[in-house]
Amino acid sequence: MALITKKIKGTEDVLPKESYKWQFVEDIMRKEAQNYGFKEIRTPVFEHTELFSRGVGQTTDVVQKEMYTFDTKGGESVTLRPEGTAGAARAVLEHSVLNDGLPVKASYFVSCYRYEKPQAGRLREFHQFGLEEYGTSDPIADAELICAAQSIFDRLQIKELHLEINSIGCPKCRGEYHKALRAYFEQYKDQLCDTCLSRLEKNPMRILDCKSPQDKKIAENAPKVIDYLCNECKEHFEKVKEYLDCAGVKYIVNPTIVRGLDYYTKTVFEFVTDFIGAQGTVCGGGRYDGLMEELGGQHVPSLGFAMGLERLLMLMDKQGIEIPKPDTCNLYIAGLGDKAKAKAFSLVKLMRESGLSAETDVVGRGLRAQMKYADKINAKFSMVLGDNEIEENKAKLKNMETGEQSEIPLDSEGFIVKFIQVFVDAQSEPMAAFLTKDKGE
Ligand code: HAM
Repeated sequence: MALITKKIKGTEDVLPKESYKWQFVEDIMRKEAQNYGFKEIRTPVFEHTELFSRGVGQTTDVVQKEMYTFDTKGGESVTLRPEGTAGAARAVLEHSVLNDGLPVKASYFVSCYRYEKPQAGRLREFHQFGLEEYGTSDPIADAELICAAQSIFDRLQIKELHLEINSIGCPKCRGEYHKALRAYFEQYKDQLCDTCLSRLEKNPMRILDCKSPQDKKIAENAPKVIDYLCNECKEHFEKVKEYLDCAGVKYIVNPTIVRGLDYYTKTVFEFVTDFIGAQGTVCGGGRYDGLMEELGGQHVPSLGFAMGLERLLMLMDKQGIEIPKPDTCNLYIAGLGDKAKAKAFSLVKLMRESGLSAETDVVGRGLRAQMKYADKINAKFSMVLGDNEIEENKAKLKNMETGEQSEIPLDSEGFIVKFIQVFVDAQSEPMAAFLTKDKGE
């Protein structure tokens, strides 16, 4: 096959036989977001470039190196979103959503675009699920948000995913910290990469998450922001930890977490694992009390997190967590001969109108091939219609798993009533079984 083109480097296709895994994970996230009071927000995939350069920060790797930015035919500079927080914040401000009452809680699924070097767990197009909460400075909100993320991981039965937290303070405590950082990195000026040299004056904290191995090594012994917190930030962090203890959420304080985006203040956190290689951060977030003002809005203390769906699915796969396959077909009806084929067609339509999935042959297969196909698509029940069945107006409904057969009338009402009866009796509930299975098994 000579395809005219293939997928772009760093992008992935989700094929029909795999998509149930995404749907399963997304359903759990959606449900948990609801449990915690979040409502979905949807924003455009591209925004004016300055939203990200101002919001995410001029000196971040994301803005300096990774954005997909282009000029439109109208001469505007637009950027494919590298993350979901800035767009959601823009929409909340633009539509005065804060007037609806605080806190505003928004959830989202977004595709994101970053021109990074692709490797396992690092893509150029990837997907995030995120929660954002606007209008609370109370540390209980930080703990509640972290609980929501933890709860999603628990429901997915993920193990060995560790919560690491830190506080990176507020603009008040940053002044002293920046001074200390500059003094430290000045000693290594001749060894830092060019990007970090330019960050030394403007935003020395960004040197701490540079990806260059040499800079990483130098950053290991740099002063830690947690030692420079003002009283308010210290107290806030203590309270967050208290609430996490009270919720029974386990964490470790990791003073080296600074996060790669500029908007964070006070609490930052990451869920990390060793299971999926170097890109082990599955979820990251924190408080961003200054972002709404940075975007031209009022002062609205806010916080949020995002988890990467690809990394999460990779982790589940590595841990052998089985995701239940949905029943794709409740009933396969094989029709032999013109009359029976037409009857099968009308019964399949009736099934679908009644909210049940059903299929019949649409490619002209013989009986054996049809039954093989019914097996392949995992049909729960099958039924063969021929001249006899049409004449007698009844057929045999076969449970494909047990082989059990029962008689079913072919008139519309009788057919559906009987099918539902047999179907409900036989129904297994893989999803319920999955959810009620002991956590941490
Ligand atoms: P982030 O740490 O840049 O934070 O990304 C969040 C998650 O997205 C990561 O933990 C990872 O799972 C996934 N991710 C990031 N980059 C890639 C990539 N190149 N390939 C695959 N997955 C990736 C944010 O984006 C913030 N907006 C999170 C946040 C929300 N903070 C507050 N609210």
